[in-house]
Amino acid sequence: MIGPVPSVEWERTNSRRLIRMVIKKIAREVYALQNFDWDRRTFDSIIEIPKGTTYNSFLIKDEKNILIDSTEPSMADELLDDLESLDVQIDYIVSQHAEQDHSGAIPALLREYPNAKILETRACKELLENLLGIPAKKIQSIDDGQVLSAGRHQLNFIVTPWVHWPDTMVTYLLPESILFSCDFFASHFATTKTISKLDDIQEEAKRYYAHIMMPFSQMIQGNLEKLRNLEIRMIAPSHGPIIEKPEIILNLYEGWSSQTSKKVIIAYISMHGSTELMVKHITRTLIDLDVNIRVLNLANASTGELIMELVDSGAMIIASPTVLTRPHPCAAYMLYLVNMLKPPIKYAALIGSYGWGTLIEKETKKLFDTMNVEFLEPVIVKGKPCEEDFERLDKLAHEIKEKLEVIE
Ligand code: FEO
Repeated sequence: MIGPVPSVEWERTNSRRLIRMVIKKIAREVYALQNFDWDRRTFDSIIEIPKGTTYNSFLIKDEKNILIDSTEPSMADELLDDLESLDVQIDYIVSQHAEQDHSGAIPALLREYPNAKILETRACKELLENLLGIPAKKIQSIDDGQVLSAGRHQLNFIVTPWVHWPDTMVTYLLPESILFSCDFFASHFATTKTISKLDDIQEEAKRYYAHIMMPFSQMIQGNLEKLRNLEIRMIAPSHGPIIEKPEIILNLYEGWSSQTSKKVIIAYISMHGSTELMVKHITRTLIDLDVNIRVLNLANASTGELIMELVDSGAMIIASPTVLTRPHPCAAYMLYLVNMLKPPIKYAALIGSYGWGTLIEKETKKLFDTMNVEFLEPVIVKGKPCEEDFERLDKLAHEIKEKLEVIE
């Protein structure tokens, strides 16, 4: 950061002065209402979002006026102001997902447009009732494949569960061939540009996928299959920029969700240097074997960096000293995250050191209890590694290479 750190109050006041809502016409009588959160740097109190985010709603003006998704509750006034400036009454609110960053302004919308009906999946209905206290009588559940005619426009509802909650759906608009995808294909990226090049979206889309979508890779494959026969001209997610070349993001998702990477991630932490010596040795051997590796020191790597690397890693080496018989707390936190996010790694190996006693292997496996990985023979060393230990590390490196070579 350049210059003095501004106070929280300064940031809040300053943010309010910034332009936050941007209305963009994306097709005939179709508008993107993008609510910019330029300064936000974390999401869900954990996800690093270095480029801020947006909450996007979409308005289709027709015989029936339809709003797709709303916004963060704190930004409801901006959304209402924009709808007023477009001089519409809202007939339907399509709530594609109940999480509050998209549904949170629905109560305010219902106060302004009391005759509006909410359309959503059955799973979403229950969540909206519970999370926001929206009365059941305001909600109409839709079924997969259901179609709504708004006049000139036709909305095709496609239920796409687990991208990333059980309630999620997307909406395909004809005749414009726009796919409104909510969190699916989204990115936390506060930019006004529209995306037509891979380089403009790849990193932030990967960050988003890694944190939000990776645990559901199998469901993603199924949902991509449901979209395969649609002719999609534009993807309009509810976070980040609109994507004018849909194949860019569709191909990225295809690759990430069916990952068969041969990369090895080495996540390590060391206290007095013994574990670090082991990491240095196995890193050198893997490089000599021409294995694609990424080494992350958990003492200074960011959580986001680690999680993004996991998207396309086929094997993981966990390197930790023993602390009070268990993995170092930084390694334990990392293992907890990996276990939760279920990256596509197929092989795991534990290396590390201890002083007088260790339960590190047992405790590491416990922290990985939902991961479907093959654990390779660990290399755990009492004190400083010796020549025999380095030979065991060489053997492990060769085994990893052989295992990865046969991954299809
Ligand atoms: Fe962007 Fe799952 O909310």
